[in-house]
Amino acid sequence: MTGTRTGDVMTAIRSRIASRALAPDEKLPSIRSFAKRMNVSPSTVVDAYDRLAAEGIIRSQRGSGFYVCSPLAPLDLATIGPKLDREIDPFWVSRQSLDAETDMLKPGCGWLPPDWMPNDGIRKAIRKLARASDALLSEYGSTRGSKKLRHFLGRQLADEGINARPEQIMLSISGTQAIDLICRFLLRPGDSVIVDDPCYFNFQALLKAHEVNVVSVPYTASGPNMQRFAEALTAHKPRLYITNSALHNPTGATMSPQTAHQLLTLAAKHDLTIVEDDIFSAFEPSSSPRLASLDGLERVIRIGSFSKPLSASIRCGYIAARADWIEALIDLQVATNFGGPSPLTSEMLFHILSDGSYRKHMEDVRQKLSKKRLSVAKELSALGIVPWLMPRGGFYLWCTLPEGLDSAHIAREALKHNLVLAPGNVFSPSQTMAHYMRFNVSQMSDPKTLTVLKNVIASSRN
Ligand SMILES: Cc1ncc(COP(=O)(O)O)c(C=O)c1O
Repeated sequence: MTGTRTGDVMTAIRSRIASRALAPDEKLPSIRSFAKRMNVSPSTVVDAYDRLAAEGIIRSQRGSGFYVCSPLAPLDLATIGPKLDREIDPFWVSRQSLDAETDMLKPGCGWLPPDWMPNDGIRKAIRKLARASDALLSEYGSTRGSKKLRHFLGRQLADEGINARPEQIMLSISGTQAIDLICRFLLRPGDSVIVDDPCYFNFQALLKAHEVNVVSVPYTASGPNMQRFAEALTAHKPRLYITNSALHNPTGATMSPQTAHQLLTLAAKHDLTIVEDDIFSAFEPSSSPRLASLDGLERVIRIGSFSKPLSASIRCGYIAARADWIEALIDLQVATNFGGPSPLTSEMLFHILSDGSYRKHMEDVRQKLSKKRLSVAKELSALGIVPWLMPRGGFYLWCTLPEGLDSAHIAREALKHNLVLAPGNVFSPSQTMAHYMRFNVSQMSDPKTLTVLKNVIASSRN
């Protein structure tokens, strides 16, 4: 349309609206007068007004003329997409778990109990911070974030086979913010993005906020179903795929080397970028193949965070990617947050991570989790709740419920007894997982958890 007469009229009206020379709900100039002013025929103005009306920028009122539309309604995430039962809305588990009173039991939440965390190390680091320089206590941090912490991360990534040069790493405020920045960088409203079905529920929530088209591909025990993935690539031409290749949330599955290879081959053919969210990497008993290492950070962006192994209160995440992408992501982080995580947070993290006790803490946690996975799987199986697979690590068990039970109903009933659960459809973009439930084994030590679950299941069967 640019360069045509109709396009010129449209541009003129758009810029009057943008500059508020034409206010919301104000009447547009009549067709005849605007045609004269723009030196075009009235039919050109009619065509331009009709096109602007089709775009929703102006509206026609019968017998009266054209008016500027009211400003767009504010973005309300709950109203985007199909209207869901509140219990299976992606925000439901987040809100229930984040806002739960301290006496509530939370096998539906996605973190370890406070007494499993390296609290002594955190306290020691806080004491060290009391002696920090005035500058550290009061100034903004650098745009990439703490150099010491980035170097530490670089070494850690190298241990996993990911060779990231210093200019390929930046710190972010959290894993969630890292993905948000990447979405801002790569996506425009209406683009398509592939996620797994099931996937971490907040991927869906975040993608809603970016007003993109979410395409889901069934997830198998060895990664996405590759035939369906290939079909989705052809049908939707997605820009991005977001996944966890190791200790996938919610299933606990790990991608096989064959799937990783097929995925990267297809990604290259279709110019697809992959976000490998490796938030659970510290929980793996031994490193599994990483898309980021196989691809050499060309079209794979690796993100991570310390919320799960260390503390969700000390918020800090990171991104490893192509150096030119990191430059653009840093600009976005400056624009939206005037920098990354607080320098105090980064310094505290560096003290904790570089203290020898952190490694020991993670060894203990992995061991405790491996016992818990087995014992909780046994207890759940006795109630007819069966793990879909036995994960190599981490704290999730993705389970099927006894025949005929609906997990949203069970979650709703359990909440009446102060038990927060994570029903399957919260994780399912296709809404086909009503008979699944995700359990966090680390949050199931209180015997009341199983008692409530047992009673709720019994009463739901009646
Ligand atoms: C897969 C996955 N990615 C990201 C996050 C959020 O991480 P952060 O706390 O760093 O924002 C979570 C939290 O549960 C998660 O499960």
